[in-house]
Amino acid sequence: MRAVDILMKKRAGETLTEAEIRFIIDGYVKGEIPDYQISALLMAIFFRGMTAKETAILTETMLDSGDRMDLSGIPGPFVDKHSTGGVGDKISLPLAPMVAACGVKVPMMSGRALGHTGGTLDKLESIPGYRTGLELSEFRKGLIEDGFAMTGQTARVVPADKKLYALRDVTATVESIPLITASILSKKVAEGADGIVFDVKCGSGAFMKTYNDAKALASSLVATGTAMGKRVVAVLTDMSQPLGYKVGNFLEIEETLDCLEGKGPQDVMELTFRLGAWMLVLGGAAETIEEGRARCEEAISSGAALERFYRNVVRQGGNVGQMLKRRGSWRSDFARELKAENDGYIESIDALDIGLAGVYLGVGRNRTEDNVSPTAGFIFEKKRGDLVKKGDRIAIAYGKDEASLDPAMALARKAVSISKEAPQPLSLVIEEITAP
Ligand code: URA
Repeated sequence: MRAVDILMKKRAGETLTEAEIRFIIDGYVKGEIPDYQISALLMAIFFRGMTAKETAILTETMLDSGDRMDLSGIPGPFVDKHSTGGVGDKISLPLAPMVAACGVKVPMMSGRALGHTGGTLDKLESIPGYRTGLELSEFRKGLIEDGFAMTGQTARVVPADKKLYALRDVTATVESIPLITASILSKKVAEGADGIVFDVKCGSGAFMKTYNDAKALASSLVATGTAMGKRVVAVLTDMSQPLGYKVGNFLEIEETLDCLEGKGPQDVMELTFRLGAWMLVLGGAAETIEEGRARCEEAISSGAALERFYRNVVRQGGNVGQMLKRRGSWRSDFARELKAENDGYIESIDALDIGLAGVYLGVGRNRTEDNVSPTAGFIFEKKRGDLVKKGDRIAIAYGKDEASLDPAMALARKAVSISKEAPQPLSLVIEEITAP
């Protein structure tokens, strides 16, 4: 077999066989096929696409390039959630303990903030002492005893994705539905989940900005995941404004605690219950989405979910006492107010601008090696649809230093638009895609 023949075949829009996909991907991971041939393959896939079957084979091949999380001997079911990334998206944090409290195990492998999107690991690490780099034995123990554990991806999880993603990044081939599907799905399947709920964000702060693109990705994730024998659902959700009232690392831990106490912001609670209900359905712990939701609500109102969260914080080295002591008061000294420039209704608070402002403040990072600040971020006092008078405070921004505030505030001012008319309400859950 020759790589060039495979390239010609895909360039002509033909379907690749399993042997061809394995030959070229395995050859690349082993260093036998050079970057320039894989770059050409990626571009051919970008323009010609892949069938659901080819995408499933690509996903399996990428998965086989590394280790799978060994969850053998632990009674399941194992169900996880994956979000395509957003601003103020702290849903994983209340969701995992809530679902675990309902009897479905959540083996959660999360990522770090990058670009305008936040990262679950950075949020967790803002809890004094909390460790996210767990050994497999610790991860297993957390799953057995608490029903969930939170860790980062090791270098051995889907190494093919690391190589391919780096190449896609510099060859303008990131935005390809089969390549994104294989990248996301291979990492989720590697962590051992039997069921996966995908939260596919749509809107300015999302990876997929338009409904059509988000729907295409959601459909591909469901079709490919199902073809791989997994129970999969995708929920398309709005990411045109940040989720909740707090955007930051420790700030989002505070909002997580509010949710676990049943008094979180309406949008965050709504999405946590909806995704949680689906996780229970996929895990067989609820027959219907309504029953799943009722069980999730009970896990919050009884305090069971909060108790699981505390157990996890202690297990992963975090100091619950310090976390609670800092709650509501641990703020950067460098703060500035964002005020309404006119009277009227808040028409939008653009998620992308707020996410980019967050990078200046120190919530997120431009490069993987940058540090983030635990106390940086925004606390919003108003959201879309609220009536304001000129000079009313919309948010307070907290920066890692004084210099970070000017560029962040310029973006935050640009993010807000105010109109005379009240905007139409937006639905947070836009559509749900289930397996046929
Ligand atoms: N997120 C991923 O993990 N992979 C992609 O290809 C795109 C977004």
